[in-house]
Amino acid sequence: MKDYIQSNKQRYLDELFDFLRIPSVSADSRHQQDMLRAAEYIQGKLLDAGMDTAEICPTAGHPVVYSEKNVDPSLPTILVYGHYDVQPADPLELWHSAPFEPVIKTTPVHPEGAIFARGACDDKGQIYMHVKAIEAMLKHDGLPCNVKIMFEGEEEVGSENLGEFVRQNKEKLKADIILISDTSIIGNDIPSVETGLRGLAYMEVEVEGPNRDLHSGVYGGAVANPVNVLAQMIASLHDENGKVTVKGFYDKVQELSAEEREALEAAPFDLEEYKKDLGIAEVSGETGYTTRERASIRPTLDVNGIWGGYTGEGSKTVLPSKAFAKISMRLVPDQDWHEISDLFTAHFTAIAPPTVKVKVKPHHGGQPYVTPTDSAGYEAAFKAMEEAFGKTPVPTRGGGSIPIVSLFEKELGLKSILLGFGLDSDALHSPNEHYGIFNFMKGIETIPLFYKYYSESFQ
Ligand code: BES
Ligand code: MN
Ligand code: MN
Repeated sequence: MKDYIQSNKQRYLDELFDFLRIPSVSADSRHQQDMLRAAEYIQGKLLDAGMDTAEICPTAGHPVVYSEKNVDPSLPTILVYGHYDVQPADPLELWHSAPFEPVIKTTPVHPEGAIFARGACDDKGQIYMHVKAIEAMLKHDGLPCNVKIMFEGEEEVGSENLGEFVRQNKEKLKADIILISDTSIIGNDIPSVETGLRGLAYMEVEVEGPNRDLHSGVYGGAVANPVNVLAQMIASLHDENGKVTVKGFYDKVQELSAEEREALEAAPFDLEEYKKDLGIAEVSGETGYTTRERASIRPTLDVNGIWGGYTGEGSKTVLPSKAFAKISMRLVPDQDWHEISDLFTAHFTAIAPPTVKVKVKPHHGGQPYVTPTDSAGYEAAFKAMEEAFGKTPVPTRGGGSIPIVSLFEKELGLKSILLGFGLDSDALHSPNEHYGIFNFMKGIETIPLFYKYYSESFQ
């Protein structure tokens, strides 16, 4: 099978390139047709790979691609989840090549070459590994278990309609485990398996001062400037120890034991390299936690965007009427995103000075998630990684979020295995996103091993 995979490498890449050429940007309604084209493309490839069925299931938003291969009802069933939608490509001027015209270039961490395109790693390249792994298995010994596939088109916009799809299709989605490739490994020489994801609560705030924009000379100094006020309010959301000041924010945070923290710290991490890669002189965050802890097992609050007043060319003297910000919080067990959204709203309203009115609007969110390491699924992932990479993998906790994963657990009673192959440095969501060819091929090799070890655990 390894030979088959290697000798079909060029075709796999050509097909993935065609997939990446479709700008499936879920956030932008101008790409609605492209979303459908991407769904149809992957549907066709699932059927070509030998799946029994592949359908496009409409939702209130972008469709879900659902596919099945039934081998034997007495065998276990793996449900593969991933997303075919991608983040918007802008700012376009920062890309070195067009985001939807994939090219291969080498980089220091990808000497074998990496595919540069929006969605190359997150998540089109990673879902395509599953399609090709299934093709390879079916061309050889067949599948050791049944497989169901659910590729959604709204992950990057909060999976708002997938919950409904899952609730409506509980019977259809019956499985033993969920397998997801939408996370990272530590390095190409340091395989790892993520054992958790952070949750997310995403808010938008509006601060309103005077009822209209004012001349900043005539009124400046006498009337509160909402941009100044918003900046002060935001600054007060962290204390001098880097802790979030939202009242009640840490109440439900699970503190890890010294042993658990030690186990996570055992994974290699080079702080100097980290700073150099980002072009920063110093890291920052919550006192008492390491950089990796700050970005994985600890909750955070970040401004994602802030605007108001004059931002055009040149200068304009104005005291704006309104200021806005988008603020997100990453959550860890057992924080609940609805509760945190309410706490934020109450806090942000309470700290507003009487000179302004504030409005807080929650956007989407999702719960944090952890995978038990003493489960058959995790053990299968561990063994598969170990065999494919020839090295013992390390467990890590991821900092990103896949909000639907905790809903799978709640609605389907299923745990998810996070068998991702990207690198944090692959510029996900950024200009020049890329995915290593090594990682793509390694993923195709590892997935059949997961199927094998997971199925064997049932015997
Ligand atoms: N694949 C990422 C999440 C991720 C990336 C997890 C790297 C672990 C390591 C996913 O597509 C994503 O970007 N999620 C969003 C949340 C969503 C609601 C927009 C995120 O984490 O910001
Ligand atoms: Mn993703
Ligand atoms: Mn993403």
